[in-house]
Amino acid sequence: MTRKPPDHRNLSLVVLISGNGSNLQSIIDATESGRLKARICAVISNEPDAYGLKRAEIHEIENQVIDHRSFTSRKAFDQALHRSIRSFEPDYLVLAGFMRILGSAFIQANVDKILNIHPSLLPAYKGLDTHQRVIENNETEHGVSIHLVTPELDGGPIIIQGRYPIDASDTLADLKRRGHQLEHRMYPLVLQWLSEGKLQIRDNSIVFEQHPLREPIEFENV
Ligand code: GRF
Repeated sequence: MTRKPPDHRNLSLVVLISGNGSNLQSIIDATESGRLKARICAVISNEPDAYGLKRAEIHEIENQVIDHRSFTSRKAFDQALHRSIRSFEPDYLVLAGFMRILGSAFIQANVDKILNIHPSLLPAYKGLDTHQRVIENNETEHGVSIHLVTPELDGGPIIIQGRYPIDASDTLADLKRRGHQLEHRMYPLVLQWLSEGKLQIRDNSIVFEQHPLREPIEFENV
């Protein structure tokens, strides 16, 4: 299938959430301030009670629930999700605290289009409970990664990482707060780069300022 090239002046996005949606909020704020030239065509949640749905409603953004519990298989859920997303024809799917694992057929059908934000310095700490595990392992540094989604869980090419030091006295809540502060600056920035054409995604790899990206961008250096 040939894909229409993204309109770099105004990206269309579908944001997938499962919960609070503070990252969604940061993207909404960036579009409303004009910093990010993008339109959120829809917010889709697999959780009916996700607060992010309320955020979408407040900002008059189309929102939908596709509850994974109403499907007999992961594949059937993915297919329903895919059907819904296709109707919006988005340039990118933005996973922002979306807590379902997407099957490889879904990912292949949306190749080069799916971004995820993960609360660790990938490839370290893939999966869940990253803050807890980082504390248990007495790590001195932690962070956030934004990556392209490929069929390998939390394993796609990393676009950007933001890092912060950990003190011995830091609690789970401290790490969560610091991570979120970074996330809320990083996600809108990455989307802004996509809208400007500064960042491109081609054939499962990242091109930044016309060069293949060999190492993740360090957020503190931009
Ligand atoms: C974020 O910490 C993100 O890294 C992870 O899920 C959390 C979502 O937070 N994938 P929110 O719903 O955007 O507030």
